[in-house]
Amino acid sequence: EKGGYDYFMLKEIAEQPKAVADTLLGRIDASGSLTLDEVRIPVAELREVDKVVIVACGTAFHAGLIAKYAIEHWTRIPCEVELASEFRYRDPILAARTLVVAISQSGETMDTLMALRHAREQGSKVLAICNTNGSTIPRESDAVLYTHAGPEVAVASTKAFLTQLVACYLVALYLGQVRGTKWGDEIDAVIRELAQIAGEVEQVLQTMEPVRELARSLADRNTVLFLGRHVGYPVALEGALKLKELAYMHAEGFAAGELKHGPIALIEEGVPVVVVVPSPRGRSVLHDKIVSNIQEIRARGARTIVIAEEGDEAVVPYADHLIRVPATPTLLQPLVATVPLQVFACELATARGNEVDQPRNLAKSVTVE
Ligand code: F6R
Repeated sequence: EKGGYDYFMLKEIAEQPKAVADTLLGRIDASGSLTLDEVRIPVAELREVDKVVIVACGTAFHAGLIAKYAIEHWTRIPCEVELASEFRYRDPILAARTLVVAISQSGETMDTLMALRHAREQGSKVLAICNTNGSTIPRESDAVLYTHAGPEVAVASTKAFLTQLVACYLVALYLGQVRGTKWGDEIDAVIRELAQIAGEVEQVLQTMEPVRELARSLADRNTVLFLGRHVGYPVALEGALKLKELAYMHAEGFAAGELKHGPIALIEEGVPVVVVVPSPRGRSVLHDKIVSNIQEIRARGARTIVIAEEGDEAVVPYADHLIRVPATPTLLQPLVATVPLQVFACELATARGNEVDQPRNLAKSVTVE
């Protein structure tokens, strides 16, 4: 059942190219236009949406944080992302023109369910992004876009996360399409890129041996820090979450721009810091800023583990370890940049003798609040 792998998690990491391809399948036609038949919210209503609110927990919340960048950039609709467990307790402002997107692998997470019930009571439409057919969250939503990751058994979410990202991009592109906003060259490039992204995830998987080696060399550490900017920030949060739950290490993700507002005080000799570097093409300001962040932490003794796209030479002098990912449009980079962090956490857990598929104190679906 583990298909020759030692753990379900390894199998599920390896299944990611297929999961991503399956989630895209049949949803973008040859002309680059999207058909999301399952999204049963009438196009006329989607055109009227003036705010998107995403609710989710854990890894699914990180997918939501990334979705915000895509939705706001491609559609110009304001988007908020909130932890489902916080959402209804702060009396959120919801209206008929608010589209609430609930992201959940299991479809049974109680906090996410309670958040969507609250949203519907206030008259908002709810679109679920879910991996489990017929589960409670899609049943109670107005519409659902299923992710096609297949069953995810390991407690730590991997392939479900990548497919949640794909589904979020599809929702963002679809909203852009029905509203006619920002439909241009950039969107066409993104759609072309999505057609290749499964192959690029596969390419990342083929180059993970040095990452595993690095992970083993860090098995006796207590702390690993993660930095990112823009969509690299939620990727940093996800890398830290994977490490906490699997390796039981103190791991924290920061927005790189926040360093000098506090976290830089944590940097001391030898502390491993993973940095997710955005593409130097396109938004090059972001790239330049993060290169100087890497210099700053390295000058203070950090051992820098840099995830950067192929051909990015500017990072080379400051990287103690360099992990290459294929070049992608900035907004899609999380699909390739997250994979080394999953492998890293899984290998560290193994090296520390932890139970990979069943980390202590955790359950696959959290059906209590
Ligand atoms: C982390 C992880 C959890 C889940 C969270 C939400 O690896 O798996 O953080 O992402 O419990 O679960 P779902 O997506 O089922 O609502």
